[in-house]
Amino acid sequence: MTEKSFQSPQKKGKIAVFLSGRGSNFLAIHDSVRKGVINAEISLVFSNKKQAPGLSHAQKRGLETLYLDPKEFKSKQDYDQKISEEIKKRKIDLICLAGYMKILTSDLCRKFENHIMNIHPALLPSFPGLHVQKKALEWGVRYSGATVHFVTADVDMGPIILQAVVPVFQDDTEESLSNRILEQEHKIYPEAVRLYFEGKLLIKGRRVYILS
Ligand code: GRF
Repeated sequence: MTEKSFQSPQKKGKIAVFLSGRGSNFLAIHDSVRKGVINAEISLVFSNKKQAPGLSHAQKRGLETLYLDPKEFKSKQDYDQKISEEIKKRKIDLICLAGYMKILTSDLCRKFENHIMNIHPALLPSFPGLHVQKKALEWGVRYSGATVHFVTADVDMGPIILQAVVPVFQDDTEESLSNRILEQEHKIYPEAVRLYFEGKLLIKGRRVYILS
């Protein structure tokens, strides 16, 4: 059986960032876009939270924002269907989940397969889900880090694009560990997006090859 493969497009792309909170990863991506490091524009910043600080940062930077209230939709399917329409309407090439605290329906994941990335504050496949720094400290791991991966319906388990490793110290708190990891997130997420629009990410099965 031949494995399914996908090569990211080499083009000036359109990005949508989905966020629910402070949006520091969004800002890191946008900084790289502004510097011309990423060959793309951010065409939409979307949130499920009206008060997300990331949304106001986006407005201040003159980007188009969209908030949809999940309570106004009959089901998660309907909510994600509306999202999907908004994405298609804008001809988005890549959705970057950046602290988007809502699980995407498997329909949406399938519709935009190979076109959604996420950043997770641990070395996947260790510690998927929430409260990951707490779990890392409880397990006494010596190293943790961050992972950028493609999104599939299997939460936090899609093909891994980039990872960065940080040490875990004995006197770390959730906060100190989170901050050390976040610093790395801000480097590897823009880098993964840059590679995507340079046509350098090749997905084969569950592995991502970085082309030179
Ligand atoms: C980050 O730690 C990211 O790894 C996780 O959610 C957090 C978002 O932070 N998915 P920010 O909103 O980008 O500052």
